Amino acid sequence: MKVCNSIKEFKDFRLSRYQKENSLGFVPTMGALHAGHLSLVQKALSENDHVAVSIFVNPIQFNKTSDLTAYPRTLKSDLRMLEEVMGLDDVVFTPENGEMYPEPIQTQYDFGELANVMEGEHRPGHFNGVGIVVNRLFRIVEPDSAYFGEKDFQQVAIIRRLIEIESLAVKIVPCPILREPGGLALSSRNLRLTRTDRKNASNIFKILQNTRKKISSGQDINSLSVEIRESLNKLPDFAVEYVTFADENKLQPILQLNNLAIEKSNIRCFIAVTVGNVRLIDNLSMY
Ligand code: PAJ
Repeated sequence: MKVCNSIKEFKDFRLSRYQKENSLGFVPTMGALHAGHLSLVQKALSENDHVAVSIFVNPIQFNKTSDLTAYPRTLKSDLRMLEEVMGLDDVVFTPENGEMYPEPIQTQYDFGELANVMEGEHRPGHFNGVGIVVNRLFRIVEPDSAYFGEKDFQQVAIIRRLIEIESLAVKIVPCPILREPGGLALSSRNLRLTRTDRKNASNIFKILQNTRKKISSGQDINSLSVEIRESLNKLPDFAVEYVTFADENKLQPILQLNNLAIEKSNIRCFIAVTVGNVRLIDNLSMY
């Protein structure tokens, strides 16, 4: 496995090692790798001749400096984990800020209604920062396919839109959410939870599962949203940011189900909570 810090080094490696007909799968990450990230890498390895992983804590997608400062950085162990699964000709790209952003950044994407809800609404500027970095990474890495987790479901939709805006030829492969045995979605931020908070946080998934049952037995979305908020806010140190039912394509909130049989078919429930000062998100399909 080759580790490259600079764009030049990465491009030279790509040119010297990869044949035109070989497929390259790409997994962009911000490091602090866990089994969720590795599941993306494994899928990319199984579907491509070569795989590139990037590790870059992208400062411009953090809307709070405190969150950026507290973001775990574990490069050594990240590389050890990748070394175990990646082959000799696979590559890890680990640029510094100056390499990715040599000049002031001007780009302002218009992701339209996709960016006005949930993460877009609650983290101003976040998706613009994600769009800028992913566009740059795609242009450096030039992958055939890129792997993204449904843990960040809205991010997948934003990246699909980015590809249209930038006319890129990258296939997006969405990958399922990996969870702890108790149900908590794996996240680099889980490292910052106390043991009690982590235990309580497994309720997020239990609540999502219960919600799915209640929807199929006909309970309406409004009363369900209230119930979910109440049960989460009851947990010590928990504060709900949003509970949103939305359609999976446009991600626009659904407030009512008129015809349960038809309309519930592409609904997903999205939750964001802060636990102490750690922000957690999760989502589950309601069908
Ligand atoms: P990061 O949070 O490091 O996540 C990298 C990828 O791993 C994302 O596609 C994310 O959805 C996926 N992932 C995280 N936890 C997962 C889990 N439990 N199961 C499955 N996949 C999971 O997302 C980012 O970084 C950044 O925004 C990035 C795209 C790298 C741009 O900076």
